[in-house]
Amino acid sequence: MSTSATTDPVSLFSPVRIGAIECANRIFMAPLTRCHALPGIDAPHALNATYYTQRASAGLIVSEATQVSPQGKGYVDTPGMYSATQQAGWQLVTDAVHAAGGRIVAQLWHVGAVSHPEFQPGGALPVSSSAINPGGIVRTPSGKQERVAPRPLETHEIAGVVDDWRRAAEIARRAGFDGVEIHSANGYLLEQFIRDAVNRRTDAYGGSIANRLRLALEVVDACVSVFGRDRVGIRLSPVTGSNNCPQDSNPQATYGTLVDALDTRGIAFIHFVEGQTGASRHLDGFDFALARKRFRGSYIANNRYTRDMALQAVHSGAADAVAFGVPFIGNPDLPHRLRIDAPLVSARPETYYLAGAQGYTDYPALAVA
Ligand SMILES: Cc1cc2nc3c(=O)[nH]c(=O)nc-3n(C[C@H](O)[C@H](O)[C@H](O)COP(=O)(O)O)c2cc1C
Repeated sequence: MSTSATTDPVSLFSPVRIGAIECANRIFMAPLTRCHALPGIDAPHALNATYYTQRASAGLIVSEATQVSPQGKGYVDTPGMYSATQQAGWQLVTDAVHAAGGRIVAQLWHVGAVSHPEFQPGGALPVSSSAINPGGIVRTPSGKQERVAPRPLETHEIAGVVDDWRRAAEIARRAGFDGVEIHSANGYLLEQFIRDAVNRRTDAYGGSIANRLRLALEVVDACVSVFGRDRVGIRLSPVTGSNNCPQDSNPQATYGTLVDALDTRGIAFIHFVEGQTGASRHLDGFDFALARKRFRGSYIANNRYTRDMALQAVHSGAADAVAFGVPFIGNPDLPHRLRIDAPLVSARPETYYLAGAQGYTDYPALAVA
């Protein structure tokens, strides 16, 4: 349950406790893949520590999506959470963010079908619930490639995937993260199991809603076994079409059941992408306000929030905190700018995934008058 640490009326700028994590304000940084890890070893390094530290005034930083295993990778130079070098790199990040007074959780990720054999160990096929090609083009080390149909995971392999998440959570804990956010959104592996439009399995991980939720909930339990339930959250996007993931036939029933199961587990937060990720906030198919009522942990809202919308969402109690993605790229001191209602800088999309400092660590904070 979230509470304000002050007796002042709750506002976007007031502190909030998310599970066991004390956050200075309710302006959170949404996870942003930036493809800036060290090539070949997918380890964070000093430049990543600088980038996150510049943004440490966020009440909570959710790290960029971080693959739990080599199999979970689908983009160039995204960071991992499965090696000692990656742990050491993340330690640089968490130490620097904490020294600046910030809080940071690791977003743990397996892309499933949204990959390509070039990223996979031994050039293998990517894995998923079923052999459904998400389609689209992927940028690989050798250039642009068409996506391929994945290989359905064998039932006996699934425990190994859950173990990958558990080990990643252990590394995240050792690397100093305040908790983890399980990436169960945007059409990646967990969502490929959740949605009946993708999951054609006939084993214990397919068919009924309970079966389709099984993998996500096993991953939740694995992360809780490492961090405790008050340092574990999950990201859900019940109606997004991100990564060409087709809609579930009944998002309300499927994701509503998931929300109830997460409530029973007492995890710290659900981070909802409301609508189409980075696009329309059209919310048909899932009742986000009802999810807010039914889940007793913290509700973090995301997707194209403006200052006014965020002020209203927190003031009205619709959300405990609002996560901003793109606005944090160009405005490292976003909480300060929102507080004084300063104009915001528009980030340059063509630099989102460029290696190096350009468009990454070269957006200045406002000069202090
Ligand atoms: C460059 C970029 C990278 C992103 N990477 C991630 C990611 O790693 N994990 C994730 O869950 N969402 C990711 N997203 C989605 C954002 O977290 C967020 O949901 C989206 O940008 C909408 O929020 P906004 O309007 O505040 O930017 C990414 C979005 C952008 C623009």
